[in-house]
Amino acid sequence: MLYDVIVVGGGISGLYAALYARRAGNNVAVLTKSNPFRSNSAVASGGINAVIDLSDVDSVTRHVNDTIDGADGLTHHVNIENMCREAPNIVEELHEMGVSFEQRDDGRLHQRAFGGASANRTCYIADRTGAAIVQTLLMRCRDEGVHILANHKFLNITKYKEKLSGVTVLRRRDSQVIALACKSLVLAGGGYAGIFRGHTTNSQESSGDVIAAALRADMRLSNMEFVQFHPTTLSTTGALISEAARGEGAYLVDETGERFTDELQTRDRLSRAILRHILDDHKVYLDFRHLEESFIDNKLPSARKKALNSAGIDITKELLEVTPAAHYSIGGIWTRGDTSTDMPAVFACGECAVTGVHGANRLGGNSLLEGAYFGRLAGIEAGRAASKREFQPIDYAYVEKEMRRIDQVIEGESRFNINSMRKNLGEELFLHAGVFKNEESLTTGLEYIHYLMQKSYGLHCVDKDRHNNVELPSILEFQNAQFIAEAMVLSALERRESRGVHFREDFPVRDDVYFNAASYVRQMSRDYIQVSFENAIQNNFWYSLRRILHLD
Ligand code: FUM
Repeated sequence: MLYDVIVVGGGISGLYAALYARRAGNNVAVLTKSNPFRSNSAVASGGINAVIDLSDVDSVTRHVNDTIDGADGLTHHVNIENMCREAPNIVEELHEMGVSFEQRDDGRLHQRAFGGASANRTCYIADRTGAAIVQTLLMRCRDEGVHILANHKFLNITKYKEKLSGVTVLRRRDSQVIALACKSLVLAGGGYAGIFRGHTTNSQESSGDVIAAALRADMRLSNMEFVQFHPTTLSTTGALISEAARGEGAYLVDETGERFTDELQTRDRLSRAILRHILDDHKVYLDFRHLEESFIDNKLPSARKKALNSAGIDITKELLEVTPAAHYSIGGIWTRGDTSTDMPAVFACGECAVTGVHGANRLGGNSLLEGAYFGRLAGIEAGRAASKREFQPIDYAYVEKEMRRIDQVIEGESRFNINSMRKNLGEELFLHAGVFKNEESLTTGLEYIHYLMQKSYGLHCVDKDRHNNVELPSILEFQNAQFIAEAMVLSALERRESRGVHFREDFPVRDDVYFNAASYVRQMSRDYIQVSFENAIQNNFWYSLRRILHLD
């Protein structure tokens, strides 16, 4: 099949990109590896930030400043300003498309408090905002003629003479590898917080597939060490209890019933405060009991349902035990302000991309905004690029190699259990590369990743049936997860300072002399990964902390 524009990912950024590329007259396909409602966009429940009422206490400048202050450095100011300025138009556009943001009697939108924000600016639909937006965009894409290829798992970018020619895809219904040609490509396939399996709000599918494919295609990744932990997730399952809960007045208390921290500080600080309290042998709970039952049912219905279904807790009467879990990857594919990457005709947006708007720590409510704003831009730019390019031939030798790789994973004799390996990786990362880390813990984590990499050559499907085989994508995701984990841990080892979500116990202070700079990761060859830093003092100079690791 030939498409002018292929978009990988069916979250808010991917759907926005597809819609705008389509509106420019392109033939557009969106690839989603499973159900779009498993995307992180659909998980982000609490809302989307936008300054709606300028006559009130808020202003775009305050939104910009809060975003910069919360980020703890490494921000791209122009991108932040553009995004925050456009936020009200995005909310209005979504509203017009049919997203029913909650409104006051006078027609103005309700806005709630969120962490790190100096005013109430988070627009919402109860505590299921992301899912409501994805649903509307999906319908709009279908109505406007975007091809949604569900259950098509993106494998790799294909090139002809170093130019983009298309993508290889695993068609899950029959486990066939197919090649799709395109003139331009938008990578919007989400992040990698799902690799912290057992300690994450993400589905296990958020394993950084798109980012790993970009690395294999010799593209540059950036800031991979920055993974945001959400402060309040169910201690039983890691399911997200939205920041909306604290924004609407729920307290954080310990077993004594005492509040011990500021519930609406930024997520990096709050996650550390909660985890320190837990490590000091306390239990931490969300307390909703002072809120009216009807208020909870109106504003926080998903939190109430999740607590009951997953923990057996009625939050109107009982405390709900919570703990931090990996929620959002700030690092990913390096991009310019117009979403272009270092590979011509390839654009990236949403969680898989680094746009610099989150710096080293993201404010809640800014991810849906980033997805919408940069998704729209990526769609416009990819549409424009497609109109200027010709299709390139697909390299079928490469496609055959992919087919053989898939055959080998299906047909080989399995020696290991994929589920326990994924769980072990998650445990190891949480312990050694989680909220707190140091040289020793990160080195231990890295050794474990390399151990898994050696073992995973022995991973094959137990079930040999090619029809909707669920093990196969799991194994492929796990292979990607290991490369992402390695890039993340190596970058964390090299960033010998603490800033934002990256907290090094052995370097607890922010170091603006050496590290006020983005980190970069590149695959130099099959066996080498390079981590380097952009030196902020000498622009475009590759900082000498360069590390070359040989995997043998
Ligand atoms: O807590 C939340 O509802 C998450 C929102 C976000 O990640 O932006």
